[in-house]
Amino acid sequence: PQPSVDLKDGVLTATLPSGDSVQVYLYGATVTSWKTSNGQEQLFLSTAAVLDGSKPIRGGIPLVFPVFGPPPKDHATSKLPQHGFARNSTWEFMGKSSSESTSTKADDSVKLDFGLSSAMLSADTKSKWPVEFGLVYSVTLSKSKLEVQLHVQNKGENAFDFQCLFHSYFTVKDISNTTVSGLAGASYVDKVRGAQTFKEESADLPITGETDRVYTTPSLPPIVVKESGKDSLITTRDALPDVTVWNGWEQKIAGMGDFEPKDGWKRYICIEPGTVTGWTKLEAGDAWEGSAIFEAKL
Ligand code: BG6
Repeated sequence: PQPSVDLKDGVLTATLPSGDSVQVYLYGATVTSWKTSNGQEQLFLSTAAVLDGSKPIRGGIPLVFPVFGPPPKDHATSKLPQHGFARNSTWEFMGKSSSESTSTKADDSVKLDFGLSSAMLSADTKSKWPVEFGLVYSVTLSKSKLEVQLHVQNKGENAFDFQCLFHSYFTVKDISNTTVSGLAGASYVDKVRGAQTFKEESADLPITGETDRVYTTPSLPPIVVKESGKDSLITTRDALPDVTVWNGWEQKIAGMGDFEPKDGWKRYICIEPGTVTGWTKLEAGDAWEGSAIFEAKL
């Protein structure tokens, strides 16, 4: 059997013979659902997420490019919105490829490619970042795993700087029983504490209040989310040294109009692999690639 891939009204759905499935909106190339074969939804999506293309989708995996957070002043990206334009531009579906397992003769993975280039941007966005680029975003679904990969190409005649990040929202049953390991020894910028830098002491970090940290982990250790002491999600990375850990907690979420239900802060955690503490410089004609694999354990 082959995976089924269906594109309808700007929403792509792919299901493997194993039952694993993924849903991607062409708007932002935002993955809005990832279900494992046991029917478990792995991504958190706000029930008030705006899905009509008028603002970035709240939840799932929005893509952050070419700047993370509010753009710095006096920088080539300074006129762009927070987190850049990739999450609120409409991408094209470039096609699928799948691989077959020799033992079961069933397709056990499907790769979906999405593209965005400077020529596809609105005139307004293009004027704010006049750079010739091409992006290919590949989403590969296999049993209990989702791989996301971003390929960035400089198609112009001048070098440019970028940051990128997979802003993944994962479901957890109860944030008060959720911990994150793999960060011990890493330095992090804590946006909740005046953007000061600290060193992580905890081998198994509990989330006990508003958390908004950017960790830098050059050796790319696996980041493990545990629920009630059991591994629930393992994130491995390639070329993405930074990881943001974000939960807005009760008060911050109360102020977000597109975040529902209001107690949803108890049931999500953002683990966001990226390269965002510095800038990646891409020379004319060069290309860069970064990726992450999320493995669901529960
Ligand atoms: C996180 C940032 O990555 O994204 C947070 O670290 C921010 O500071 C969050 O609040 C959500 O951002 P936005 O633009 O989607 O509301």
